[in-house]
Amino acid sequence: MTSTAPKKIPPLPIIRGIDRVRAVLANLYRTLVPGHVALLELQVAGFLSQAISTAAELGIADELAAGPRTATQLARAVEVDEDGLCRLMRLLVSYNVFAQRRDGSYTLTRMGAALRSDAEVTLRDVSRFFGSPFHRNHWSHLSDAVRTGEAVGPAVDGASFFEYAATNREVGDLFDRAMTSISTMSTDPLLAAYDFSRFGTLVDVGGGQGSLLTEILHRYPAARGILFDLPTVVDDLTADLAAQGLAQRCEVEGGSFFEQVPPGGDAYLLKHVVHDWSDDRAEQILRAVRLAMNRSATLLVIELVLPEHRRPHPGKFIDLEMLVNTEGGHERTESQFRDLLARAGFTLTRTVPTAAPDCVLEARAR
Ligand SMILES: C[S@@+](CC[C@H](N)C(=O)[O-])C[C@H]1O[C@@H](n2cnc3c(N)ncnc32)[C@H](O)[C@@H]1O
Repeated sequence: MTSTAPKKIPPLPIIRGIDRVRAVLANLYRTLVPGHVALLELQVAGFLSQAISTAAELGIADELAAGPRTATQLARAVEVDEDGLCRLMRLLVSYNVFAQRRDGSYTLTRMGAALRSDAEVTLRDVSRFFGSPFHRNHWSHLSDAVRTGEAVGPAVDGASFFEYAATNREVGDLFDRAMTSISTMSTDPLLAAYDFSRFGTLVDVGGGQGSLLTEILHRYPAARGILFDLPTVVDDLTADLAAQGLAQRCEVEGGSFFEQVPPGGDAYLLKHVVHDWSDDRAEQILRAVRLAMNRSATLLVIELVLPEHRRPHPGKFIDLEMLVNTEGGHERTESQFRDLLARAGFTLTRTVPTAAPDCVLEARAR
C-alpha cells in the first residue's frame, strides 16, 4: 500500500451511535422470539462464517470482479459442483455477501468485494485462515481451553501457535498475510485519529510484514522506521521495502522481543502484540522496550481495548481467540493496560480511540 492521503473516515460518534442502535434492535428481536429460536440463529452463525471462508478459498470474488457470472459460468471458473455452489451462494446472497440479479447471475457487493485478492483492504486471507482446518481444529477444542485456561496448540500440534507457525510456513505465511490484512483494516482509522508527525524514528516491535510502519512512512516522508519481528517473518522483506521506495528510510531487524529490541526510536509501536501474551510475558516485552528507549521516547500500544459495556465488541471475540491460541494472551480493559504498563515502568498518558475497534494507548517511561 503506498497511499499518502488519509481516507475519509465516518465520525466516531456516528459509528458508536449506530452500533448501539443495532445492539438494541438485535436484543429486541431476541426477546420477541422464543429463546431457542434466537439461540439457534446464533449457533448456526458459525456455518455462515465457514461459507464466507469457502467463498474466499474458492476465489469467487476474484471471478466476479470480472463481471456478473451465471451459476454455470462461475462453477466452471472456480472448478466446483454447480449445485453445491448454488447452495453456498444462496446463503451468502441472503446476507448480502454477494448479490443475485433478476436473470439469476451473481455479482459482487461491497462486502463481497472485500474478498477480492486485489482489494485495497482484502479479507481473503483472513477468511481463509479463520476457515482453515488448522484454525477450525483449534477452535473445536475451545472447551479444553476454557476448562484448563491454556492454549490448545501444545496438545493438538505439539507446539505453541508461534512455534508451529515458524516451522510450518504454509500456515505461518497464511497467518502473516491475514495479520497484514487485519492491520491494514485499521491503518486509515489509526492515521486519522493519531498524529505521528512529531516522531523522527519509529520502531515497530512485532511489526509483522510492516504494513502499518510502511503506511506511516508513506504519510510522513521525513520519518524513518525500524521494523522488528522474528527472523522468519522479516527475513525476506528488504526487497519489498525497496520496491516501495523505502529502502533508505526503513531498516529491518530480526530478533526476539523477549531479549532486546532496537534502540534509538522516538516512538515504539506495539500493535496487537501485547494481547498475545500473559501479563508476565507482556511485562517482559514492555521492559525490553523500556530498556531500548530514550527518556523522551513515546510508547504506543495499539490494541482492542475491552469496553466496560456488555454489548458485542470485536475484542470479546478476539479474547477467545487468544484463549485458544496463545499462552496466556488476552484482551484488556483500559485499567488493566494502565496496571500492566505501570508494572513495566510506564505511565499511561492518553488513550486515543479510533473509528476502528483499536485504541492507541500512549505511555511514557517513568
Ligand atoms: C498478532 S501479530 C501482530 C503483527 C503486527 N503488529 C500487526 O498489527 O499486524 C504478532 C506479531 O508478533 C510477532 N512475534 C511473536 N513472537 C515474537 C518474538 N518473540 N519477537 C518478535 N516478534 C514476535 C509475530 O511474528 C507477529 O508478527
